Amino acid sequence: KKLEGLVTVTPPEEDKEAIGSDAKDDNSTVSITVVGASGDLAKKKIFPALFALYYEDCLPEHFTIFGYARSKMTDAELRNMVSRTLTCRIDKRENCDEKMEQFLKRCFYHSGQYDSQDNFMELNRKLKEHEGGRVSNRLFYLSIPPNIFVDAVKCASLSASSVNGWTRVIVEKPFGRDSESSAALTSSLKQYLEEEQIFRIDHYLGKELVENLSVLRFSNLMFQPLWSRNYIRNVQLIFSEDFGTEGRGGYFDHYGIIRDIMQNHLLQILALFAMETPVSLDAEDIRNEKVKVLRSMRPIRIDDVVVGQYKSHTRGGNSYPGYTDDKTVPKDSLTPTFAAAALFIDNARWDGVPFLMKAGKALHDRRAEIRVQFRHVPGNLYNRNFGTDLDRATNELVIRVQPDEAIYIKINNKVPGLGMRLDSSNLNLLYKARYSKEIPDAYERLLLDAIEGERRLFIRSDELDAAWSLFTPVLKELEEKKMIPEYYPYGSRGPVGAHYLAARYNVKWG
Ligand code: NDP
Ligand code: BG6
Repeated sequence: KKLEGLVTVTPPEEDKEAIGSDAKDDNSTVSITVVGASGDLAKKKIFPALFALYYEDCLPEHFTIFGYARSKMTDAELRNMVSRTLTCRIDKRENCDEKMEQFLKRCFYHSGQYDSQDNFMELNRKLKEHEGGRVSNRLFYLSIPPNIFVDAVKCASLSASSVNGWTRVIVEKPFGRDSESSAALTSSLKQYLEEEQIFRIDHYLGKELVENLSVLRFSNLMFQPLWSRNYIRNVQLIFSEDFGTEGRGGYFDHYGIIRDIMQNHLLQILALFAMETPVSLDAEDIRNEKVKVLRSMRPIRIDDVVVGQYKSHTRGGNSYPGYTDDKTVPKDSLTPTFAAAALFIDNARWDGVPFLMKAGKALHDRRAEIRVQFRHVPGNLYNRNFGTDLDRATNELVIRVQPDEAIYIKINNKVPGLGMRLDSSNLNLLYKARYSKEIPDAYERLLLDAIEGERRLFIRSDELDAAWSLFTPVLKELEEKKMIPEYYPYGSRGPVGAHYLAARYNVKWG
């Protein structure tokens, strides 16, 4: 069943009903295998998300979860490991012990190699026992390092022929590290799977405020006419973390911040932000529009990119490590942990509008935001008469993806009183003040969509190709020229070069 109830405006109580009733199909079962179940992502995100879906009654009546990895573990040990990460996230006042126990009883473990067909066939036999002759649907979540994706897909797809329902595979990023390696990965995966069986995750697409972007744009008359170069001066896409690459240095050093955040998370947001109205809410219609944006983008010039790397810093008696202090990172690494870039879309709607991206680790704050700065009011009466600061006079729309999800608009208003003074204030939709319900984690939405066969929030292969075509040349150039990153202290605002870059386009970072 497609989740029409979730796509259209359905009151939350009805969501449960809509999903629950349809999923309660006695004849079918879903087996979810978390490949790499002993790993960080599985513990931190996947099992908790599955529990939250179970708690919300969103999983089908008949489902089984299998953990698969090389580590030796019994079912009991897996349950013990998983139970340590489950929380009553949905309703913190609740005691979920009973629900957790029921959930854990549905979790099992099978130990095996990622390239062993025999081990996967053993898993297949166990899955079949649990499926009990019902229509069997299989979801494999590849939560493993990318170099073993293809082996695992090959083995997992073997059992597909013995399954009378669907088989889908969720693949985690990174999807290659440039156009060539990404194309090679896609063609290897396609040896064993059809494109519609591959669910490439970009978890930013599952974030509430990113999903809301289209609603904001296409269901509010007040934004529609403003959404173009005629009224928008610049758009900023900002990702900032206040911690370093601790624990993931080995992975990170091979990729860097441009591949880790910009080429996927920020670029996906940009595509959703800038696309034309899709013909419908159908996944293919939306993804068609996103691809058009990506393919209309101007090649990124190296001069329009600033790279940085954090260095150690001592503050208030605490010392914070530099990127290369990580033992898994080479001492002479030039991998950027910060980058800023100016991008342009060469189409009629966005011609000349700078889309500025900024992404960094070990900065002074943690946030992800879309900031839209509007043009100045032509011949602004108040500027002429009162000499108001121009920055203040600029309207700005901010979509704060995290933390403290919010959408606010900066407007100019009169300070109350007998005089005439202008002030910049926020019209603020702060989610936690407006909605009492906890916002689902991105992985919950994405897992549910994969189970339901909803592809809207997953990356199609041509989108991926277009994203890599945009970033590969500039990444190659940066690497060939061995561009030295600008060093910035851990916990700072990042390299000053990012400000010069923005200033070149008359932009001040928000
Ligand atoms: P891990 O490094 O924790 O690996 C997951 C599991 O894979 C490990 O528990 C291990 O299981 C097995 N494994 C690890 N290295 C190897 C190897 N060299 N050869 C064979 N098996 C290996 O990864 P994460 O859980 O952090 O991430 C999983 C995937 O998700 C990766 O593709 C990652 O890039 C991506 N990702 C992770 C995020 C995160 O926050 N962690 C965020 C976004 C994406 P065992 O030894 O038991 O077989
Ligand atoms: C991942 C990146 O895709 O996203 C990490 O690999 C980053 O480096 C993470 O920390 C951020 O995700 P979130 O949801 O915590 O903002």
